Amino acid sequence: MLKGFVFLFHNLLIRFLLHSQASHILDCTPRKTVNYEDANLKIFAEQGISNYSTLLLSEEHDLLLVGARDAIFALNIENISDCVSQEMWPVSEQKQKECMYKGKSQETDCRNYIRILHWLSKTRMYVCGTNAFQPTCDNLVINNGKIQLEKNPEESKGQCPFDPTQKYASVMVDGEFYSATANNFLGSEPILLRSLKNNLRTEYKTSWLNEPNFIYLDVIQESKDATDGDDDKIYLFFSETAVEFEFYNKLLVSRIARVCKGDLGGQRTLQRKWTTFLKASLMCSAPEINFPFNIIQDVFVLRATNWRNNIFYAVFTPQWGKQDMSAVCAFGMSKIQEVFNAGKFKSPITVEQSRVKWVMYSGTVPVPRPGACINSNIRQSGFKTSLDLPDKTLQFVRDHPLMDDLVTPINNRPKLIKQGVKYTQIVVDRVTAANLKEYDVIFLGTDSGYLHKALSLEREMFIIEEVQLFLSAEPVQNLQLSSKRGQLYVGSPSVVAQVPVAICTQYIDCWDCVLSRDPYCGWDKMTSQCVYISKKNIDIQNLVQNIENGDPSKCPSHEMYKAEKQIIIPGNNMVLNCYPASNLAQMQWLHKRRAIPAVDSRYFHFNVGLIIFNVSAEDEGQYDCLSVETVAGKLLSQVTASYFLYSSTYKSRVDQHPVPTKTDLGAKSAGVPTSPGNTVRRGNLPMIQNYLQTELTLKGFLVLFIMMFVLLLAWNIYKGHVPIPLRPSGNENARRAPATILNNSVQQLEEKTTLSEGPQLKGALNNVDLPLTSISDANPLEKNSNNNSVPLENANSSCARPLLVLDELEYIDADQTESKA
Ligand SMILES: *[C@@H]1O[C@H](CO)[C@@H](O)[C@H](O)[C@H]1NC(C)=O
Ligand SMILES: *[C@@H]1O[C@H](CO)[C@@H](O)[C@H](O)[C@H]1NC(C)=O
Repeated sequence: MLKGFVFLFHNLLIRFLLHSQASHILDCTPRKTVNYEDANLKIFAEQGISNYSTLLLSEEHDLLLVGARDAIFALNIENISDCVSQEMWPVSEQKQKECMYKGKSQETDCRNYIRILHWLSKTRMYVCGTNAFQPTCDNLVINNGKIQLEKNPEESKGQCPFDPTQKYASVMVDGEFYSATANNFLGSEPILLRSLKNNLRTEYKTSWLNEPNFIYLDVIQESKDATDGDDDKIYLFFSETAVEFEFYNKLLVSRIARVCKGDLGGQRTLQRKWTTFLKASLMCSAPEINFPFNIIQDVFVLRATNWRNNIFYAVFTPQWGKQDMSAVCAFGMSKIQEVFNAGKFKSPITVEQSRVKWVMYSGTVPVPRPGACINSNIRQSGFKTSLDLPDKTLQFVRDHPLMDDLVTPINNRPKLIKQGVKYTQIVVDRVTAANLKEYDVIFLGTDSGYLHKALSLEREMFIIEEVQLFLSAEPVQNLQLSSKRGQLYVGSPSVVAQVPVAICTQYIDCWDCVLSRDPYCGWDKMTSQCVYISKKNIDIQNLVQNIENGDPSKCPSHEMYKAEKQIIIPGNNMVLNCYPASNLAQMQWLHKRRAIPAVDSRYFHFNVGLIIFNVSAEDEGQYDCLSVETVAGKLLSQVTASYFLYSSTYKSRVDQHPVPTKTDLGAKSAGVPTSPGNTVRRGNLPMIQNYLQTELTLKGFLVLFIMMFVLLLAWNIYKGHVPIPLRPSGNENARRAPATILNNSVQQLEEKTTLSEGPQLKGALNNVDLPLTSISDANPLEKNSNNNSVPLENANSSCARPLLVLDELEYIDADQTESKA
């Protein structure tokens, strides 16, 4: 009998049913890729120290505190390369020996990994380390930026993990320390513990915690302006092996659990144990996707002025199938409260000998409601604290910690699904854009050292950029945001990195700046720069930004691309360079305003340009490279490069049939979201009479050119360099590089690029009334980071069109009513 969710392995295919309504759930290609060198990073790493995985921001002291292996650092929050002070906390020889006797490795296990850093007061912190599998805590005082251990270590079983590889979670709430970790050397006994004051712990039962991976702990101050005298609650996020599904393999589920801050445990039943521990399953899936992202990886609480509007953002990955897939879901407070405060419980029943089955509990639930915090109502009934609660209520909550209802995400679907990436960390910033509206910008750390910046809008979510954080492909282990400073802090095995929330200078023109739809960036018309918008400098009058539609029509038109003049040397091959404005842009080449076909033996389209084979006088004229990009469902294009090719017989013919040149097609269309057709067709282009002043100039130029070419060729042959390398360096200066003359080395290129047609874009272009016959393949993904395996058709439309190919398993949502029977 199948209950709840059933996985079938025999069918090694998963089908995504891609309804058009599901268009905001898709695979998003980051619009821009920022490499390590351009990322404006500040780095901290100390010789001989590793595992910088614990971070604590102190805006008050202007410090970033970092817990590493055997050491704690206080770094300047403005510039983490500047280490203010440090405190070493190595393992004693005695402890190290004991650790090794127990079969652990001296070099990796028997060290002190700092895992806990929390404020106790304004100048004191609680700090714990694994201390060679003998977890120990101490106090750390801070004085004028100097950190110092009080050197009063205490054994801290249940507060800090034994094993540095095990996941854990902790939070300090009003001097009470909540920790979720393993309580024994073997790591087999999980615990949610409150210590320092009013110690309380979980029952050691698989129905409470079953091989959990603890992810996140935090407090929500729900007592604040509560009319019913409700209590603050501590929420725990984790994944664990499901007890409620019958399955021959271990099925993991993600959970949200909560306890009440005022819990004091029971009098007889649940003595010094939580009387309010309840948990529910977290769903991150969509009805039409039928694919479970069942393992939670990280959580961020986006706090609103009113806690009822708080949002828990969480990252999930699947247990099976493609490991390199991730989803982001957002959970609202109201749904969570509904499930815990009014939801049904699950109950174990024994069937067929000793098999236990969990079904919805339909009997009477004792009063006061099991797991409820003590509020005014319960207090009025004579139960002042949890110590007064009746045994019936306590026994029920001990045996029924799991809710039957699921906590489903906002809008019942993931905000984002990303293929080819495993997200490990998430933070969210609520940003006020130039239109004074607020947007949630989501920062995601990957397991290979990238940071993705995504924007969540009502109808769509897209990835603004990816930033390479480390030189080696290390996982992002910790991500902290200083919203006030506009900085992110990243912990990893070998370094700490600091990266600004936005790199607006990467957007080279107004068009690029506006199309990015980056709420932090706007085009300043006064300075002609893409600038970082901080609350101080918002000057809406002079700023162009359009988050919802990415509409660049407000961009000033300005002289942009001058056509590069190139002489034709008959019989040669010519390369015209053109760099796509973004990873999502495709290139379309026009020759004398007519589209150059993608498949034509005379031309070859490659990722950063066009090759014309065996040029002749017929190839004369204007060449324009359009960068075409779909933004918010609209197709936008602009000229990003122009060339004018002429042959030696040009002058004589110009006198008879004037040919347009030098005119800047790009200047007219730059930043204007009109169809390329309109732009290019517009008006009579001025005739150029003075293009080449005299025959003399032409001849002189030609002779010089040929001489240089011959010299170059000779030198290359001499050096054995033929063919000349084709690949441009890719830097900004090379963007408008002149055409390169080739020596028949196209084969090289063919190995690197492929020809294909973009039927979708072709269709779209037809819609905007452009006389195009086909479109070139400017595969922007090729130069992209490690993780893009997305086909081009998919890339061009960013998040407007999903395309996911999965394999290995099928996921079925079985009949719910059956399980509730
Ligand atoms: C950051 O601090 C380091 C080390 O003190 C220094 O070399 C570097 O110039 C600083 N960078 C900035 C931008 O201030
Ligand atoms: C510590 O860092 C090293 C690399 O610097 C890494 O190989 C190891 O897995 C890390 N250990 C833990 C427990 O994070």
